[in-house]
Amino acid sequence: MNCIVVRNLHFSYPGNVDVFRNLNLSIDTGERAGITAPNGTGKSTLFLLLTGLLRTQSGTISLWSKTAANEKDFREARLRTGLLFQDPDDQLFLPTVEEDIAFALLNRGLSRQQAGKHVDRLCEQFGIEHLKKRVPFHLSWGQKRLVSLAGVLVTEPELLLLDEPTAGVDDNVIEILRAYLENHTGTMLVSSHDKSFLESICSTRYHLTNHRLEKC
Ligand SMILES: Nc1ncnc2c1ncn2[C@@H]1O[C@H](COP(=O)(O)OP(=O)(O)OP(=O)(O)O)[C@@H](O)[C@H]1O
Ligand SMILES: [Mg+2]
Repeated sequence: MNCIVVRNLHFSYPGNVDVFRNLNLSIDTGERAGITAPNGTGKSTLFLLLTGLLRTQSGTISLWSKTAANEKDFREARLRTGLLFQDPDDQLFLPTVEEDIAFALLNRGLSRQQAGKHVDRLCEQFGIEHLKKRVPFHLSWGQKRLVSLAGVLVTEPELLLLDEPTAGVDDNVIEILRAYLENHTGTMLVSSHDKSFLESICSTRYHLTNHRLEKC
């Protein structure tokens, strides 16, 4: 069964910044797909289009075999999707790390106590228990990366969209990410310039070039 199907997608930013021309993509449920591409070719734009945060000018996006055309469609799909933004500062916004990680669970109606258990589990796994009371804004880049990823994973989304999770982090953080993602069984779409990281966690690879995606 397909998780993501994109057909004939065209997208430009205002000012005629042409990003995608006739892009097609098909990701199976359970597929672990890596995306490589030079800077400025549209990786982040693709993630924003797949989550409905940007809208296509033409072409279709289907998620779990349902066409996603309007805000209602994307809102439903977003409940099953975890998007890690390229810049953690776009993701983190609450006064403490523990509140930030718990946010999506509290939003879904879990009690603080229930949410706290999930937060503690992930903090332990990522080695960030000591950051729980800290202000996210003041964390280092690598710490922000782990906290923002914990906030994405806490709801156990069926589809993970990770935009350059390895950018700017040290080998220790890369190993934490690798260890977690190797054992993740859901569908994943991960962009990275780190080919060895993608090889270790992904089953398929795509390259973004000439305004479209090609399977490698
Ligand atoms: N809000 C915007 N308005 C206008 N142009 C934009 C906007 N956001 C991105 N772009 C342009 O769209 C193109 C694709 O940008 P995008 O950020 O998706 O690339 P990317 O592959 O993620 O790059 P990087 O590897 O540097 O993260 C670039 O030419 C960029 O300058
Ligand atoms: Mg980007």
